[in-house]
Amino acid sequence: MQTEILSPTPEHIAVAAAALLRGQLVAIPTETVYGLAGNGLDEQAVANIFAAKERPRFDPLILHLPAGVTLEQLQGWLVDVSAFTPTARALLGSLIDTFWPGPLTLVLPKCPTVPDLVSSGLPTVALRVPAHPVAQALLQAVQTPLAAPSANRFGRISPTSAQAVYAELGGRIPYILDGGECAVGLESTVLKLSPEGIPTLLRPGGIPLEALEAHLKLPIRASEDGKTGPPEAPGRLSSHYAPSKPLRLLPTPFAQLQPGDWQQVQHLTTGHSHLGILSFATDPQALLNTLSRHWPGITFSLECLGSDPKAAARALFASLRRLDEGDATLLLAEPPPISTGLGYAMMDRLRRASSLSR
Ligand code: TXA
Ligand code: MG
Repeated sequence: MQTEILSPTPEHIAVAAAALLRGQLVAIPTETVYGLAGNGLDEQAVANIFAAKERPRFDPLILHLPAGVTLEQLQGWLVDVSAFTPTARALLGSLIDTFWPGPLTLVLPKCPTVPDLVSSGLPTVALRVPAHPVAQALLQAVQTPLAAPSANRFGRISPTSAQAVYAELGGRIPYILDGGECAVGLESTVLKLSPEGIPTLLRPGGIPLEALEAHLKLPIRASEDGKTGPPEAPGRLSSHYAPSKPLRLLPTPFAQLQPGDWQQVQHLTTGHSHLGILSFATDPQALLNTLSRHWPGITFSLECLGSDPKAAARALFASLRRLDEGDATLLLAEPPPISTGLGYAMMDRLRRASSLSR
């Protein structure tokens, strides 16, 4: 199959909408990462998404909705919150009013309208209203929820540009709508709300956890998947966001490594003469000098994300992708300088990216 990259003109949006309504797949820009969209109420289209991504069917999809959708419209159609307490309903309503459109995905009890394939047989469905104007134009045109996982092959780095989608799925899907670089760069925050109004974080992401806690005036517990009972966030069990090269996550930033730590890090890189470095440093030349002092004769490919969390998050996946495509044989990543907010979400992605590494 030939894959066409379409500029987001009204004509191309109409082409993409028609393809989606025929059951075909279209990669679409969102403010977080690119998604691989299909008609979320069409079982066959949803099955095609799993096939194109080589995604196991136990990992459920998010349904994307048009801006302005209300809880009243969703109730009885996609979700069933009739068992929610008045407090839980009020919390849910205010999350929707405050954070939609935007990078917040809400996991709620589902209605039978939602194919079991979308929710991988779970009694809940994940919903989100993306803020990207091209995604919104398309959602308005199709008038159906779009199921859209990140547009990468399963387990790999999420794409934040049309070119990155092409590298992942070129030849497997007919169209990619090009909406430019994603502004957030990390996937949405996934939050589950119980009928009693208890929120659980299933995935840190583009909306900082602290912002949700401040809004709800409640602490949010993190899902303890795998420790007790069935998984709450099935996709979180496996390693994710992985480059094809081994990636090691350092215990502290380069600037804080003690002499003993340096010896350990040097030991990790034995046998490699070209290292890929993912850093949050603000002065690439100073970092390069430090690295060259500790690894004389080694070649470095350096990606410096800087210390501003928003800018770093926006650049993270593209930097990882460049390192993966370059000549380095081993990748080393620093932990983010800040461990809250987007720093927490970036650390989550780097941990998962490194856990798959050999
Ligand atoms: O920012 C995003 O969320 C992007 C863009 C394209 O919208 N989408 C995305 O989708 O990251 P995906 O499929 O790569 O990740 C969805 C996550 C998975 O970890 C999945 O397990 C979880 O949401 N999820 C979906 N439905 C769920 C459910 N009913 N219960 C628990 N977790 C669910
Ligand atoms: Mg994904």
